[in-house]
Amino acid sequence: RILILDFGSQYTQLIARRIREIGVYCEVEPWDIDPAAVEAFGAKGIVLSGGPETVTGDDAPVAPEVVFNLGVPVLGICYGMQTMAQQLGGLVINADEHEYGYAQVRAHGHTKLLKDIEDMVTPEGYGMLDVWMSHGDRVDQLPEGFKLMASTPSCPIAGMANEEKNFYGIQFHPEVTHTKQGYRMIERFVVNLCGCEKLWTTENIIDDSIKRVRDMVGTDQVMLGLSGGVDSSVVAALLHKAIGDQLTCVFVDHGLLRYQEGDQVMAMFAQNMGIKVIRADVEERFMSALAGEVDPEKKRKIIGREFIEVFDAESAKLKGVKWLAQGTIYPDVIESAGSKTGKAKVIKSHHNVGGLPEDMEMSLIEPLRELFKDEVRKLGVALGLPYNMVYRHPFPGPGLGVRILGEVKKEYADILRLADHIFIQELIKWELYDKTSQAFAVFLPVKSVGVVGDARRYDYVVALRAVETIDFMTARWAHLPYEFLEHVSGRIINEIPRISRVTYDISSKPPATIEWE
Ligand code: XMP
Repeated sequence: RILILDFGSQYTQLIARRIREIGVYCEVEPWDIDPAAVEAFGAKGIVLSGGPETVTGDDAPVAPEVVFNLGVPVLGICYGMQTMAQQLGGLVINADEHEYGYAQVRAHGHTKLLKDIEDMVTPEGYGMLDVWMSHGDRVDQLPEGFKLMASTPSCPIAGMANEEKNFYGIQFHPEVTHTKQGYRMIERFVVNLCGCEKLWTTENIIDDSIKRVRDMVGTDQVMLGLSGGVDSSVVAALLHKAIGDQLTCVFVDHGLLRYQEGDQVMAMFAQNMGIKVIRADVEERFMSALAGEVDPEKKRKIIGREFIEVFDAESAKLKGVKWLAQGTIYPDVIESAGSKTGKAKVIKSHHNVGGLPEDMEMSLIEPLRELFKDEVRKLGVALGLPYNMVYRHPFPGPGLGVRILGEVKKEYADILRLADHIFIQELIKWELYDKTSQAFAVFLPVKSVGVVGDARRYDYVVALRAVETIDFMTARWAHLPYEFLEHVSGRIINEIPRISRVTYDISSKPPATIEWE
């Protein structure tokens, strides 16, 4: 396995995902990890990530010395290369010329890392690579024992190698797809230079997880909060395969789910798969709790609080349950860990509904804790969950509660569900669903005038929202075809009597958010 030390780059998780895609297990730890833990990890190779700091600054992050003494290959990327250079006796300077974006790098000296990996060969026989570069500083003098591996006109040392020790530094980012040969470089490093075998496959992950779950829980009973979302669904399928009837799921239907979603969850898990699912039908309770509240954050808090209370009450009815399963995935773990000094990482606050019930003597089991979303999805499909469920757009914990602007009412939720259903149905039909990252309808509690036949009507408005995004931190509104929007709008206004007008949201994030509340 490979250890990645994180210096705070926005691409660190991508490095981990690439290595996993290659079939090799890896973990991300903050750069200021305890040196003893680096040793104990038993890595066959170490990657030092990029980062936003400058190595020339005071108390700049550095790699633990032990990294260079373990006798395993080390790959420094961007900041990782610079700190490697500086720590091993080279010189890093603030460059006059900053370089961001596409660059062409010339390879030198047929190093073990880059040999025969190239996008083009110059007439003189040099390999040229199209790469994604982003740096302010650059290495100016190589550390002892290193030779030049790559260069660009504005960055004469864009790559360095100490082949005897298998230490490599590259100024560009092999983990982003703009670096066309990046995958091959990472593969060369982890497989050929570190000697890792490609054992991290979906089948192995499932077998291994099942074994671990069985060893952990023995004959104990396990409980799981099932939301119908990807993560908890995959946990349900996995645990059911591992321990069968020892698993009971609690599904809180708060009345803010999508069209027929509650019934679908029950049909899928209880009827099809034979999993024990307790459904708490608590729509009325949620509607009364939300009555009169218009503030988005307060609405979120109410939904969160009620959710936990219902979940607690339902789980208290189950006797002798020793384990609580959760669908925590690896990005959640990395995000909430961060660096000890808090320097290398901005910790994203989670806005998921739910939490650990208090006063319950249960241990936590999180079978997806080491997996990225794409791995979780592959697992779901391999475990027999339908593709369209596993690849469904994300849905926020507070559900339609934040898609009904202002006060939430059952009447509004029912109207919104129908409009949202038509929009999604048509996106799928027009093969646009997989091209958007998230799409939904929003209910606006204002009335607008319309005309049907000879009659004037005065009814509600819905907005359609569709975005394209990689990470949901920034997003572009989806440029859906006009004919498509026209068709959807026509269906919504004609089929839902209480809606008189449909609008399309053309705001990107930032400055708008994806949800309207
Ligand atoms: P925003 O609206 O912040 O949304 O651009 C980014 C992503 O997060 C989802 N989201 C939530 N998810 N609880 C959740 O579990 C929430 O309160 C919440 N608010 C937003 C949103 O759907 C989008 O995918």
